[in-house]
Amino acid sequence: MSISGTQPSLMVKQLYDRESCTYSYLLIDPSTGEAAIIDPVRELFERDMRLINELGLELLYTIETHAHADHVTSSGKIRQNTGARIVFGEASGIHAIDVAIKDGESLPLGHFSIRAIATPGHTSACTSFFADGRLFTGDTLLIRGCGRTDFQEGDPETLFDSITQKLFTLADETIIYPAHDYNGQTSSSIGEEKRWNPRLGNSRSKQSFVDLMNNLVLDMPKKINEAVPANTSVGVNFDPKRYLWHDFTMDNLHQVWQELPDKSLIMDNRTPEEFTKGHVPGSLNIPLGTENDNIDRINGYDTVYIYCRSGRRAQTTFTNLSFQGMEHLHCVSHTGMPDWIKAGYEVET
Ligand SMILES: [Fe+2]
Repeated sequence: MSISGTQPSLMVKQLYDRESCTYSYLLIDPSTGEAAIIDPVRELFERDMRLINELGLELLYTIETHAHADHVTSSGKIRQNTGARIVFGEASGIHAIDVAIKDGESLPLGHFSIRAIATPGHTSACTSFFADGRLFTGDTLLIRGCGRTDFQEGDPETLFDSITQKLFTLADETIIYPAHDYNGQTSSSIGEEKRWNPRLGNSRSKQSFVDLMNNLVLDMPKKINEAVPANTSVGVNFDPKRYLWHDFTMDNLHQVWQELPDKSLIMDNRTPEEFTKGHVPGSLNIPLGTENDNIDRINGYDTVYIYCRSGRRAQTTFTNLSFQGMEHLHCVSHTGMPDWIKAGYEVET
């Protein structure tokens, strides 16, 4: 917030990535030259650095609203070049960041402050940031829309609560700056979205929102393979060969299984009941949601292969373990144990 009547307001530069339709934002205190960047994109690192240098800014923070699935961040590179501190919501559990910001905590920026508002739902660690009457919503609240909730621990009920109980309690005139827009719109306001957002505006009920979100049929983002693991290591030193997200099948797993290298683990993350009925011989049952409790055990292996029934739970665990900084993860996606059985491969019960 501006602290005196004569203080110029916080300057916001909205920057655009044509490929992923991502908005990055440069927040500047014009009187001190201190600045922060929100959601910078790897491919536009040069553009952003040029602007920061031309304006003579002292970049204090590079802030992520969440681990993006559609583009890779340049935060790590920006830190290397400017000394800016990388800020992520506390719930992300991501290594290699400088500030794991808690709900309600603020970052000082010249005469202003940037307040974190934990808004889980699109991902479990999404954070919105409020500064001087502007709200940077990431993918939580979009212009006449909201982020999807079908992967990265997304949850429509949580998203509904985050938006209606947290963001919609801000003043109607609060300006909304989202992380994306696919229709050429650049900003909105709380008042507008409360009234006109077709997904949850106009006092739409939680149940009808949840039904709507659970019935959206959406393609996976093109870059999800690369982006989620890269963004959990803040975009630096990322070697895509270390990760497999899509295109790893039960047939591939069978090949690996036939001559399983030393210190490799095949992890079945279905329920113990499903596991008992039939699993890949030699696999270890670590049901979804218990991987954190078993992290020491998992860390004892050099390479981990994860499968489930349909690929969905395996992907969730994959993302979760990537967040813990684990490498050499292989995830069977879009397929699982039924295809192993159908192929006639050996099954252990
Ligand atoms: Fe997102």
